[in-house]
Amino acid sequence: MNDKPIENLPMMPQRPAAPAGAPTVYIETYGCQMNVYDSAAIAALLGRAGLARGDDPLTADIVLINTCSVRDHAEHKVLSRVGELRRDREEAGRRPAVMGILGCMAERLGEALTGERQRIDVVVGVDRYESLPGILTAALAGSGGAGSAVVTGHRDDAHYVAPPQLYPQNGSHLVTIHKGCDYRCTYCIVPYTRGPQREKAPAAILDEVRAVVAAGGQEVTLLGQNVTAYRWRGELDFAGLLTQVARVDGLARIRFLTGHPRDMHERLMDVIGAEPKVCPGLHVPGQCGSDRVLARMKRRYTRAEYLHMVAYARRVVPDVTISGDIIVGFPGETEEDFAQTLSLVREVGYDNLFCYTYSERPGAPAVRLGDDVPADTKKRRLAEVMALQDEVWQAIAAAQVGQTWSAVAEEPARRTEGAWRLRTLNNRKILAPLAAGVPGRTYRVRVDGFRNTSFFGTAV
Ligand code: SAH
Ligand code: SF4
Ligand code: F3S
Repeated sequence: MNDKPIENLPMMPQRPAAPAGAPTVYIETYGCQMNVYDSAAIAALLGRAGLARGDDPLTADIVLINTCSVRDHAEHKVLSRVGELRRDREEAGRRPAVMGILGCMAERLGEALTGERQRIDVVVGVDRYESLPGILTAALAGSGGAGSAVVTGHRDDAHYVAPPQLYPQNGSHLVTIHKGCDYRCTYCIVPYTRGPQREKAPAAILDEVRAVVAAGGQEVTLLGQNVTAYRWRGELDFAGLLTQVARVDGLARIRFLTGHPRDMHERLMDVIGAEPKVCPGLHVPGQCGSDRVLARMKRRYTRAEYLHMVAYARRVVPDVTISGDIIVGFPGETEEDFAQTLSLVREVGYDNLFCYTYSERPGAPAVRLGDDVPADTKKRRLAEVMALQDEVWQAIAAAQVGQTWSAVAEEPARRTEGAWRLRTLNNRKILAPLAAGVPGRTYRVRVDGFRNTSFFGTAV
């Protein structure tokens, strides 16, 4: 989850090339990988509709922001960004852009974004992107005087605008496998912004994966808020889907995001452990370590079940690493509950942990519980859990020094001359000098040390 825009979006090459003088569109993306995938699909859709890509928000004719509602902070950030873009354009003497909000905030706030304060021209929700070319063309034509256009609401089918096909994020090509979520964890806004869970057909997923391979890609990341709950008409579950994707010739690696602890059952982990193409870096958010709080969050597992899942993964998935998310300060969380979270973090030994303070989301069920943990208590707990994770990670990292790993080259390191960024199958990042690095190729690297969350080493 990102509060900064996800930078470095390698945009689609434009086919057909936009006509000279075509209006330009700039897209900025916040939130999760699902938004990254959607933004790429939107860019391709608008390209086909004859709009050109704009790389500069100060000069583009249309500015679209694909947004996230998961925490209050993420929404504020976008609203102040809109104000900032407006001011910058004014100061630079540019005319106002057609300003559009897409994604989860569009779905959650809709009409409210077009009021006096925000003055957004175009608001399009997550299931409605196919309407963008028409709406944007109309908005450009009526520039200035036209009213705002708001198109939101979920559709029954898992409708997608055409997939972006080749869209590498860290060398992995994103393939969204379903929309929405049916779990309704009480703190979470996603089931309301993204809608109910609707699956993409297995044939469509496989077509997308084959298209990635045909275009030279070797790795896919299967995406969804709850991929492990994938189920196609009682015929195929996520384990079955993984097996089918793994059979695609030419594909080397499969990653997936996000798994839900409840659905990481033993049979699925057996498949993950036995299928060499499935990468053993598992992101399974635990959220907290107290059964009382887990029940109030409606997470559908207990601490003991979560720990069993982790232990089973360590048994059957070679080289597995575990990453997760933690929320501190959920309504009613006591010091004793929080101590349970700390002990969970210690017990699991996460490679990577994303920690958040609870943010009350209007419309999410936990609003009824009241937001009763004081802000400074939340802050202190956040700092404590992060400090503990740092300690846990240092110990994990120190044990890796001297080992030799297989790692896939991603790209030349930005700050270290001659070094490349590589990633292991279990999601560890390592910097190593490579004489003539080839992105996507696997190298053997010896771990020499570590800094922050990254290792450095030598190719052997
Ligand atoms: N579908 C995934 C993740 C959803 S959102 C899952 O079920 O695990 C990503 C992360 O944001 C969550 O794992 C949670 O840790 C955090 N999050 C979600 N809602 C939040 C809220 N209201 N306040 C603080 N953190 C939240
Ligand atoms: Fe939100 Fe829970 Fe669904 Fe994840 S599983 S998206 S946390 S409701
Ligand atoms: Fe944010 Fe929506 Fe993704 S709320 S986390 S962008 S599903």
